[in-house]
Amino acid sequence: MSSVLVIEDLTVVYGRRRRGRVVAVDRLSLNIEEGTTFGLVGESGSGKTTVGRAVLGLIRPASGRISVAGEPVRHLALRAAVAQGKKAQVVFQDPAGSLNPARLVLDTLREPLRIHGRLKREASTRAAEALGGQVSLAPGMLRRLPYQLSGGQNQRAAIARALAPGPRLVVCDEPVTALDVSTQAQVVNLLVDLQHRSGVAYLFISHDISVVRHVSHRIGVIYAGRLVEVGESSSVSDSPSHPYTQALLAAIPVPDPARQRERRAGRRSLLGTAADDALPADGGCSYRLRCPWADEVCQRVDPELQSVTEDHLVACHHAERVLLSRSVAPAATGPGSAADS
Ligand SMILES: Nc1ncnc2c1ncn2[C@@H]1O[C@H](COP(=O)(O)OP(=O)(O)OP(=O)(O)O)[C@@H](O)[C@H]1O
Ligand SMILES: [Mg+2]
Repeated sequence: MSSVLVIEDLTVVYGRRRRGRVVAVDRLSLNIEEGTTFGLVGESGSGKTTVGRAVLGLIRPASGRISVAGEPVRHLALRAAVAQGKKAQVVFQDPAGSLNPARLVLDTLREPLRIHGRLKREASTRAAEALGGQVSLAPGMLRRLPYQLSGGQNQRAAIARALAPGPRLVVCDEPVTALDVSTQAQVVNLLVDLQHRSGVAYLFISHDISVVRHVSHRIGVIYAGRLVEVGESSSVSDSPSHPYTQALLAAIPVPDPARQRERRAGRRSLLGTAADDALPADGGCSYRLRCPWADEVCQRVDPELQSVTEDHLVACHHAERVLLSRSVAPAATGPGSAADS
């Protein structure tokens, strides 16, 4: 299989000089194979959207290389980026906000077909209706304005628009976060179904690891701009070996309220907002301030990603012990005892 997206050593910095300088993405590398889904998961402020914007050419990285379908991504103004968007497209969190409110959905879908497919009026209408059919929007629905549709229907329209130019990659940035739970499942299933039909690849961005692991072939966990764990979806969710990944998994609600309370208490110190933690100026692991496993090595040495098994990499000095702790006591999020002992 060949890669449709290659990101090498991407660093993105917002702001200038000392005041307000934020390293939003820090030396991040990842690959997405043709026709597959890579789930990028992490809490608010961890840098997920920034990665997506860099892939789309909407921001200029401080360093690193990105290529989509073998071609380097250049930084472009928004309009030019949309025009060149044949290879990579995007679906945002807020479907109503990303569609033109004054335009019939049909016309929104016809536009990329006219530009990229060079179709005349009649033909583009038929093609837009066929596209609507693929996302279960009947021709009558397409002749409405976004405010006349539900959130889920708007997101279907946004997905159809993204697929219209026949992209190889779609960046889905929290595509179901704004939808109610029952609609979320429908839209996720639609994305999976469309991938089977068209062979499109997704960079699927979400703060919710329960959604991500459901749709992704591979998962990358991002913390404070760094990938801390990456690998096959089942390896990462069944054998999470970074304390942060374990904390994200432990935060998935469970039906039993007593167990839920127990787990909440356990994870409080592990989750929070990434922005709370200033990046350590003196080396060391960026997760160490929250980490129950942190020891003297973690204070000094910033861990690099290393393989624990084939196609499963973890940036933690204690990855093996962290994984074992979980298989012994799956309900616990980390050994409070490790810090005590
Ligand atoms: N335009 C900007 N100017 C300055 N800082 C920014 C800008 N956009 C994002 N940041 C900062 O960069 C970091 C990463 O932000 P980003 O939006 O990529 O995170 P995210 O993981 O997508 O978060 P969320 O889940 O809330 O969408 C944050 O610290 C954020 O405050
Ligand atoms: Mg975001």
